[in-house]
Amino acid sequence: MKLLLTGGTGFIGSHTAVVLSQAGHELVLLDNFSNSKQAVLGRLETILGHALPFVQADVRDTAKVTQALQTHGIQAVVHFAGLKAVGESVAQPLNYFANNLQGTLSLLQAMQAAQVHQLVFSSSATVYGEPQYLPLDEQHPTSATNPYGRTKLHIEEMLHDLSASNPAWRIACLRYFNPVGAHDSGLIGEDPNGIPNNLMPFVVQVAAGIRPALQVFGNDYDTPDGTGVRDYIHVMDLAQGHLAALHFLNAQTGWHAINLGTGQGYSVLEMVKAFEAASGKPVAFNIVPRRPGDVASCYAKVDKAQALLNWQASRGLPQMCEDAWRAQQRNMPSTT
Ligand code: WQD
Repeated sequence: MKLLLTGGTGFIGSHTAVVLSQAGHELVLLDNFSNSKQAVLGRLETILGHALPFVQADVRDTAKVTQALQTHGIQAVVHFAGLKAVGESVAQPLNYFANNLQGTLSLLQAMQAAQVHQLVFSSSATVYGEPQYLPLDEQHPTSATNPYGRTKLHIEEMLHDLSASNPAWRIACLRYFNPVGAHDSGLIGEDPNGIPNNLMPFVVQVAAGIRPALQVFGNDYDTPDGTGVRDYIHVMDLAQGHLAALHFLNAQTGWHAINLGTGQGYSVLEMVKAFEAASGKPVAFNIVPRRPGDVASCYAKVDKAQALLNWQASRGLPQMCEDAWRAQQRNMPSTT
C-alpha cells in the first residue's frame, strides 16, 4: 500500500517506517521536526538501502497535507504527529490542543478532501486515566487526568463520530503503553530534546554518565517494591503492531481501539536493575517524592490485539535495555 506517516521521523514513527517499508509498503514521511531530527532520514536510508520520500510540513497545513495525499496516491495514513509529554501538557495546554487536536482535525479534513479513509492513530494508555482494575482491557472506562491524555481521548471520540457518519472510514486507535528500546542497528532510537521526561531515556543518560543520578519518583506506592509499575513495550514490537493493524483494516471497516502492550509490568527499580545488567554500567538513583499525576501501576490486557491483529509483543526487558544502550553508544558515546 501507499502510506503517509505523519511524525515519520519521530521515535515511534521512524521505527514503524522501517517495519512497514521492509514489509513492502511504499511510504511517504511527513514531519515538521518539532521533536525529531532531520538526520533520522539519512539513518533510515542506511537501514533500508533507499531513501523515503519526505514532506516537511506541519499537519495543520491542510492544503499541503491534501497535496501530499493526492500527489503520492496515498491509500492509508498512520498518524504519529503530536506532542506527548504529560507534564509539559499541564503547563502548556493550549499548545497541546493546537498541535494535537487542530493537527488531527486538519489531517482528517485533508484525508476527506483526498478521499483517503483508512487511518491508524497513535493513541495512548493515558486515555484510561486512573486504573480502576488491572490489567487494563479496552472496555476499561476512559477519562483524562491531564491535557495530553485529554487530547488523545478527544481524538479517539472524534474518530468514533467520523466512523459512525460514514462507513467508508476504517480506523484503528492503537493505545500504546510505555514504548522503549531501539532498532537493533542502533542507528535510530529514542532521542528526546532536553531533559528526558520518561524513565528509559533518563536511565540511559545516567548509565552514559551524561546525568549524575536518576530521581525515582516515590517508593511508597502499593507495588511490590514501592516504585511505579509500567508495561514497557519494545518499539519494534510496537511498530509490528502497526503493520498488523493496517492488514486488519484492509479487511475491516469501522472504529477499533486496541491495546499495544506486553501484559507484563515492571517497576522503576526492576528497570534500573535490568539496565545495569544490559549496559554493565551502574545507574545511581535517589528516592524523591512522587510526581504529580503518576499512578501506581499500569499494564495492559493484550487479548484483543492477539485476537484481532494476530499480534503479540515478543521482545523482553533485557532486549529493550540492550537495544536502548546500543543506540545510545552508537549515537552519543558515554562519558564514563
Ligand atoms: C514511568 C515510571 C514514573 C521518570 C509516559 C507518558 C505517556 C505515555 C507513556 C505516550 C513512572 C517513573 C519516570 C523519572 C521516575 N507516552 N519515573 N523517574 O508516566 O508511565 O507515561 O509514557 O503516550 O504519555 O507520560 O512514563 O517513563 O514518565 O514514567 O521514577 O525520571 O517511571 O514515576 O512510575 P509514564 P514515564
